[in-house]
Amino acid sequence: MSLLTPVQGWYHKPVAKDERMWMVISLLLCIMLFVWMIMWHVYGKQNPSNVTYRTSPKEYAKMAEAYLKKNMMGVDNGVPVVKPEPNSDVLVMGEMWRWSPVLILKKDEQYNIHISSKDLMHGFSLQPVNMNFQIYPGYDYVLHFKPTSSGEFKIICNEFCGIGHHTMIGKIVVIESDADLVKYGYDKLKAPTVFKKDSANAGVPKTEAEMMSAGEQLYTLKGCVTCHKTDGTTLLAPAWNGLFGKKETVIADGNTSDVIVNEEYIKESVLEPQKKITKGFEKVLMPVLTVSNEEIDQLIVYIKSLKK
Ligand code: CUA
Repeated sequence: MSLLTPVQGWYHKPVAKDERMWMVISLLLCIMLFVWMIMWHVYGKQNPSNVTYRTSPKEYAKMAEAYLKKNMMGVDNGVPVVKPEPNSDVLVMGEMWRWSPVLILKKDEQYNIHISSKDLMHGFSLQPVNMNFQIYPGYDYVLHFKPTSSGEFKIICNEFCGIGHHTMIGKIVVIESDADLVKYGYDKLKAPTVFKKDSANAGVPKTEAEMMSAGEQLYTLKGCVTCHKTDGTTLLAPAWNGLFGKKETVIADGNTSDVIVNEEYIKESVLEPQKKITKGFEKVLMPVLTVSNEEIDQLIVYIKSLKK
């Protein structure tokens, strides 16, 4: 209830001239902004020309992996490197905590770059040109991308995505001709042997050496390399060198116990990473990966080969 009763009929009093003028001005401004909002899609140069498809993180990860197996020409710091053909479809994936692959693109050529996330939301921020996109799992964004200047560009993640967020830096290298590859040390890239397109037994590793090589390849493709190092460093997860046969203290359901790292233990850790957590790494949750039994076997052979 109001303390003061309003004067009878106040609502029907005519609006003053000034007030009417401001109402007209603000209405015109609203209309102008509305029209400009639509025009901006046509004339604003910062609108991404993207098409979006629905997908699932699993499905996209599978596609991206197949794409990498077929096209990777080497590895840079554990991240696959791809030099796609102009006008082709390129698959890029954001995952905890890397952008894969590194792309080598040609200046003034057009590419259809697909981007999606394998786990949670990441922010794709291309620097220093400052192009930004939000990358959600379950959506495949296709950017019609034409680099207009050459050089090295970084992809920074600008969406906080966990403990390794600050390490999530990707790379796009734009070259004018193949001669530029030398500048980036990409002229000596070596594709892993097992999955080489012209290899006689491409994709079906049989011997111990092939299994190891395949395991090494998976270590990069599946992104294990992001957290598990092979030089003994343990920033986010146990290092893989010297791991096989080692005694580890693990926590399962709040109880601490000791395990010997053997085939079964590795298999279980890959399929159910949260079941037994190595002491000291409780804060970093390992994502559940889509790996087949054969692939786990290959990874085990690779881990076995890594000595302290
Ligand atoms: Cu991905 Cu922050």
